[in-house]
Amino acid sequence: MRTITQVDITNLRVLLRVDYNVPIDDKGEILDDFKIKESLPTIRYILKSAKQLIIISHLGRPKDRPTPELKLDKVALRLMKHLGRNIAKLNDCVNIDIPDEKVVMLENLRFHKEEELNDEGFAKKLASYADFFVNDAFAVSHRAHSSVVGVTKFLPSCAGFLLQKEVENLDFRNPKRPFVVIMGGSKLSTKFHLINKLVPMTDKLLLGGAIIFTFYKSQGFEIGKSLCEDDQLTAAKLLSYNEKIVLPKDVVVAPQISEKAPFKTVNFKQIPKEEIGLDLGADTIKDFKSKLKKAKTVFWNGPLGYYEIENFSKSTYEIAKLLSTLDAKVVIGGGDSAAFVQKLGLMDKFTHVSTGGGASLELIENGSLPGIDVLKH
Ligand code: 3PG
Repeated sequence: MRTITQVDITNLRVLLRVDYNVPIDDKGEILDDFKIKESLPTIRYILKSAKQLIIISHLGRPKDRPTPELKLDKVALRLMKHLGRNIAKLNDCVNIDIPDEKVVMLENLRFHKEEELNDEGFAKKLASYADFFVNDAFAVSHRAHSSVVGVTKFLPSCAGFLLQKEVENLDFRNPKRPFVVIMGGSKLSTKFHLINKLVPMTDKLLLGGAIIFTFYKSQGFEIGKSLCEDDQLTAAKLLSYNEKIVLPKDVVVAPQISEKAPFKTVNFKQIPKEEIGLDLGADTIKDFKSKLKKAKTVFWNGPLGYYEIENFSKSTYEIAKLLSTLDAKVVIGGGDSAAFVQKLGLMDKFTHVSTGGGASLELIENGSLPGIDVLKH
């Protein structure tokens, strides 16, 4: 993959694809600007030598038409604050004249359906604004969209520093051992192929989150009202024969998912019929910690319990704290796991926290992404 220090962008107009798909509240206020901060090294580097920087991004899933709450105005303001300089923010990404300003930001690309269709005409239009294309939008590089893939047909292209950092850190082909993976979250269907791919590479794969109940059910145990994907039972059963897979020994259960619900810890074989499994128990946390203490490489993806409610966040919290103290390469997958460590103020305690949820999983699973492949030629 060609990277930004390998190309000469002196006096060129540079089109930069970033992922400013940041969490926002219902008034459109930015809740977390991690992705914006992570794009700063590339932006600062481009500004040192390029003639002009034109920034493009999407925000949310606007259903092909302008949606006021998903405009990029507040994102542009936040970026201006970080950069300490003005940005000319335009109201569209097509049908526009690019002003002379040094930094320009176009409007949300997904206001036009052509973006997600990888429409050639749309990509050509975006490319027409610049002489060079830089992709730093790791979190959307698993999507073959016009601004990620299509545009590279019309402009010389390379990766920015964030994309490069993500690709380097999410490479687990020659890990220092022991290499331990922690996989949580709620859907085995979205993680089965990745788990399958990781099993031969790891020394231990610790499972948490709601995905464990599909495993228990596949082994014939009662799981009460816990989440389960019945169409994944065979897949779960096959995986659970592998000795590297570690399933929790005990779980925290409650009759409802509520802050006020009474809760208790039970052995995984004794989940009551009317209860829901919502967190890992103390014995499991102890077991996972002892396995993680020896690790030299760790990859963690997905919360281990229903962490949005404090009573069920203990395992996610305890494991995050432990990981932050390890003398090892520790990589946190994007999405919910990244949001959780951010909430704990632990972001700088890990080797790498990915900005990409789906993208980080697909990169590990497939070894590349559509938006990376096009930068290899
Ligand atoms: C993300 O936040 O994961 C990326 O911006 C991708 O967003 P998408 O799933 O809407 O394509």
